[in-house]
Amino acid sequence: MLHLHARTDPAWGRRALACLDEILVDHAHCEKKAASTAIGLVFRYPEYPQLAVPLARLAREELEHFELVIGHIRRRGGELGRLRPSPYAAELVAAVDRHEPARAIDTLLCCALIEARSCDRMQVLQRALADALAHADPRVDAELVELYDGLLACEARHHASYVELARLLPGADRVQIEARLEALAQHEAQVIAGAPPIARLHAALPACE
Ligand SMILES: [Fe+2]
Ligand SMILES: [Fe+2]
Repeated sequence: MLHLHARTDPAWGRRALACLDEILVDHAHCEKKAASTAIGLVFRYPEYPQLAVPLARLAREELEHFELVIGHIRRRGGELGRLRPSPYAAELVAAVDRHEPARAIDTLLCCALIEARSCDRMQVLQRALADALAHADPRVDAELVELYDGLLACEARHHASYVELARLLPGADRVQIEARLEALAQHEAQVIAGAPPIARLHAALPACE
């Protein structure tokens, strides 16, 4: 269960195929950012030792994904370069409560929603890739379909892990967490709906054809 208020239209995946190489570079940066965010939380919250090992493990997985995606970019003759990120994550975390311990809970729930949206986008992209492969589209190969097949399951697991970690914090009873997750998921749906049309994993329909 991804707790998303609005799932991605399959049309997004079909449009993403038109700028697949840029989507892949953005995807690599997202994996790197996911690892950095997880480690950043370990540094920020030494008073919550229950977060340390799960977040260290998660960061390691994200770095493995980062390396994996770079491998696919290079296999396709591309290279990792600087890319302006989607404003999605910054706009999402703008809703985080500024006061602790609510800030810690909100931050973990926003991470959970980013993981959920990544999973949702990868699912749509994987279906578009599989469909293109079945139609012998030269932009797509079986390795890329397998890449997203494997990754989307991990991102769904990361979503559940972040929700569980939020529940481990002081002052976080189950009812409060559910209510806060619901409110942040509503905000997330607005942020993703309002994201600009650029070739990013967390943006609107890519404009390139
Ligand atoms: Fe990942
Ligand atoms: Fe993840």
